[in-house]
Amino acid sequence: MITGASSGIGKACVNLLVDVGFIVYAGSRTPEKIDIVHQNLYPIALDLTSHEQIKSSIDAIHKEQGSLDIVINNAGYGLISSVEDANEEEMKSQFDINVFSIFRVCKAAIPYMKNQENSIIINIGSYFGKVALPLFSFYSASKFAVEGLTDALRYELKDLNIRVHSVVPGFTKTNFTNADLVENSYTFNRHSSYKKILDTTPQLMENINNGSDPKVVAKTILETINNHNSNTRVYVEDKNHKISLLGDELTEDEKMIYRFYLLEMADMDIDKDELKIAMDAKEILLKDFANPPKIEYLAKLCATNKTKLNKVFQNVYKITIGNYIKKLRLEKANLLLQEQSLTIGEVAKEVGYLHQGNFSKLFFEKYHVHPKDLLRQKC
Ligand SMILES: NC(=O)c1ccc[n+]([C@@H]2O[C@H](COP(=O)([O-])OP(=O)(O)OC[C@H]3O[C@@H](n4cnc5c(N)ncnc54)[C@H](OP(=O)(O)O)[C@@H]3O)[C@@H](O)[C@H]2O)c1
Repeated sequence: MITGASSGIGKACVNLLVDVGFIVYAGSRTPEKIDIVHQNLYPIALDLTSHEQIKSSIDAIHKEQGSLDIVINNAGYGLISSVEDANEEEMKSQFDINVFSIFRVCKAAIPYMKNQENSIIINIGSYFGKVALPLFSFYSASKFAVEGLTDALRYELKDLNIRVHSVVPGFTKTNFTNADLVENSYTFNRHSSYKKILDTTPQLMENINNGSDPKVVAKTILETINNHNSNTRVYVEDKNHKISLLGDELTEDEKMIYRFYLLEMADMDIDKDELKIAMDAKEILLKDFANPPKIEYLAKLCATNKTKLNKVFQNVYKITIGNYIKKLRLEKANLLLQEQSLTIGEVAKEVGYLHQGNFSKLFFEKYHVHPKDLLRQKC
């Protein structure tokens, strides 16, 4: 069963799952809008604000099929509003659909799903459930909550044979910025106190609209279903996030953590110079949130502020960035050793290592040749 099935990620998921042979109950406020015709597909009317309606739908599914194996909590929408402007109804509705509906669906489904062989609950999270943006406080908070409930449920249901995951899409081209987006009228007024921030939202919307195809998310959901060893949180690669510039250096999780830890850096207990570097990094990422974060620039920043930045990153995310910087330095050292007539000590110094011995050891680990032997070969 999947919620929010009439458009975007939900619809792509329905399409893929029926095609590979799943029997899919596609829940929607407007099931008549589901224009897919397939023998495995059963569109159902679902009001996610009503526990009774959700329960009677799930009871009916179980009665018809004899089991309920997988639930995908996908329905969700974004409220754009300052905290100051949002009204009670807007605030509550955001959580009602994005968070409480998941509780309602789980509450009704778990009795049927527990103690089966392979039950799976997948909640659709968001990058905004990892980093919060101004005017998205309610949406972000709701998606942070999705991560929290996913974690708690995963432990709660482990012994009952129910796997719980969140699948976290990046920018995805769906109806998200159109039909279902809720814009607070005061925040969107041209005299609003938040006009300056608001002016950045069209760019963000454009990036969402130019985002990945929802089929990519559907494919990730299917992979999560099929892989019994899936991570709890499964990130969907976002074609706009040039964080992948780091290529194979980082795992998907590391890319995500790196990106968001950078945003947190300025709050750290670090000295003034380090703070300035951290703020620069944060500024770049914030300014460019809608655009690719300038990783190369950050890497350069690292290279020119070696010790300080290393210290910052040691506190923040030492393995990832540390490895990346190490890789850059050693590659540069390799070039210098191959092309110039510098001594090992000079090369070590040039690429930022104070101790020649340490440099040689790291170089050997990477290239399986001691710098001394490399120079000898060159001779
Ligand atoms: N698009 C992105 O860039 C992106 C990124 C990260 C996460 N997400 C998440 O992905 C999920 C699917 O969104 P989407 O991008 O596919 O957007 P979408 O095309 O707008 O689809 C969202 C679906 O959620 C349901 N929904 C929306 N507002 C609702 C409301 N007030 N009450 C009940 N149901 C409502 C609708 O289902 P019915 O009309 O069929 O009832 C709608 O089809 C959401 O949880 C969203 O937060 C999206």
